[in-house]
Amino acid sequence: MKALQEKIHEVGRVLSADVLKVDSFLNHQIDPQLMKEVGEEFANRYANEVITKVLTIESSGIAPATFLGLTIGAPVVFARKKQSLTLTDNVYTSEVYSFTKQESNKISVSRDFLTADDNVIIIDDFLANGEAVKGLVDIVNQSGAHLVGVGIVIEKGFQQGGKLLRDQGLRIESLARIKSLENGKVEFFEDGEF
Ligand code: G4P
Ligand code: NA
Ligand code: NA
Repeated sequence: MKALQEKIHEVGRVLSADVLKVDSFLNHQIDPQLMKEVGEEFANRYANEVITKVLTIESSGIAPATFLGLTIGAPVVFARKKQSLTLTDNVYTSEVYSFTKQESNKISVSRDFLTADDNVIIIDDFLANGEAVKGLVDIVNQSGAHLVGVGIVIEKGFQQGGKLLRDQGLRIESLARIKSLENGKVEFFEDGEF
């Protein structure tokens, strides 16, 4: 997606050979116009599918997921990372391991908002090692819903998550696929390049 790649070139900051900071439009401040276009792009890529629910994880997945939900007219559910007072036993849960933080966290989604009747798309801001998406896929499987595919705003193609999930037969659509962050420079894969 051209507008997204341009934005990353313009304001993204390469913190190291594997971390890209995009706080100014995705992870802290949000650019609503760009997120609207991101939502529309996900909708276009999955235009041939019936989607009844958009599933993401708090916090940074919520903005892109919500604009997709708005575009296709489907509700958006976000998995919670913290145990909620009012969300206790009626939940699906999964463990998500973070290589960055070297800790495992429980995520949960209420059974009220995901059922076997749903056709689900999973949305997230970043795809690195794929642990968050794996946890969300686990929750979709527990619910008996049908998983249509995954939409990612920024995939770090030099990490293993994308390959791992595609090898399982999942459809993954990433709007920007980073080939390398070496030498402080962002290099993208072109469409169709792997
Ligand atoms: P994984 O799910 O693909 O295995 O990712 P990992 O554990 O490595 O990532 C942990 C957190 O760091 C996630 O956010 C993920 O989105 C984010 N992340 C991973 N790589 C990058 C990167 O290069 N740049 C930025 N900006 N973020 C990255 P989170 O902790 O769940 O936080 P949030 O959703 O509340 O923002
Ligand atoms: Na995220
Ligand atoms: Na994030």
